Amino acid sequence: MPVSGLHLLVVSLTGISLSLEADHWAESNREKTFCSWKCLIFTLQWPGSFCVNLRNSSDCKIPPNVSNWTVHGLWPQRCMSCCSCWPIFQSDLKEVYSQLSQLWPSLLRSHSSFQFWKNEWIKHGVCAACVEGMNSPLLYFQITLKLRAHFDIHQALDAASIKPSCEKTYEHAQIYDALAPDLGDRVVIQCMQDDKGRELWVQVKVPLSRNLTLGCAHPDQDPPPWLQINSDGHPCPKEVPLYYFPINYDFPDKPCD
Ligand SMILES: *[C@@H]1O[C@H](CO)[C@@H](O)[C@H](O)[C@H]1NC(C)=O
Ligand SMILES: *[C@@H]1O[C@H](CO)[C@@H](O)[C@H](O)[C@H]1NC(C)=O
Ligand SMILES: *[C@@H]1O[C@H](CO)[C@@H](O)[C@H](O)[C@H]1NC(C)=O
Ligand SMILES: *[C@@H]1O[C@H](CO)[C@@H](O)[C@H](O)[C@H]1NC(C)=O
Repeated sequence: MPVSGLHLLVVSLTGISLSLEADHWAESNREKTFCSWKCLIFTLQWPGSFCVNLRNSSDCKIPPNVSNWTVHGLWPQRCMSCCSCWPIFQSDLKEVYSQLSQLWPSLLRSHSSFQFWKNEWIKHGVCAACVEGMNSPLLYFQITLKLRAHFDIHQALDAASIKPSCEKTYEHAQIYDALAPDLGDRVVIQCMQDDKGRELWVQVKVPLSRNLTLGCAHPDQDPPPWLQINSDGHPCPKEVPLYYFPINYDFPDKPCD
């Protein structure tokens, strides 16, 4: 009786240590998938064309104080298992709320701006948060606002006389050449096609290293994820004229019709 009792104890202790090991393994593995990313993509979107291809065009709204390129997100690359394990609350962002509302607004009536930020935090921010300086909701959003201010895309476009217009078109090279000095030569400009077959410029993707320096080259992360075609656009074609539509607050889904 005591022997088998001891045996049971040993078995159960072994069970505990095994499950501790399994926990430890799961923990370090989770850390690996959370934190092994090497590149970030900072993505800006142009409210002028954002709404053109929305399935539900009446869901679009451009707040009156939004007149510039806005943030879409700051995305660690290849971080597939970010989690909702780190909750975010409006009060976390009180300090930056007003700035975020203008520079990182939701353009959908069906989503408040906070819902947009919350989704971005859960999908991307929690992964970014394993780097010092981004390791809280407030820090992550503050860093993103700093990037938005640092990459002064408006000034670069102004200097190159690239202005929103319903008629005038631009070549890929004109836009790329205007942006590359500030955003790096790996910057990607993204377009989408409207129902008249026009290529509309809608996004800019800026690859950054983990330490937020420009560009990101990692042989183990080829092909560069930011070149892949995805749902929010495709790299603007090089041989086709590109449209850079003005913001139309009254008809955001048909800015030029
Ligand atoms: C379209 O968006 C509007 C505004 O958010 C909403 O009231 C409406 O129900 C949506 N329509 C569909 C078909 O989802
Ligand atoms: C917004 O755009 C205007 C016009 O291009 C520019 O003068 C202004 O500096 C921009 N503001 C910000 C915050 O980028
Ligand atoms: C922009 O407008 C929103 C309401 O749409 C407001 O909450 C926010 O404080 C405004 N931001 C700035 C910087 O004016
Ligand atoms: C930032 O990271 C890149 C890529 O790892 C590295 O080449 C560069 O030296 C780093 N820069 C600084 C200032 O730490």
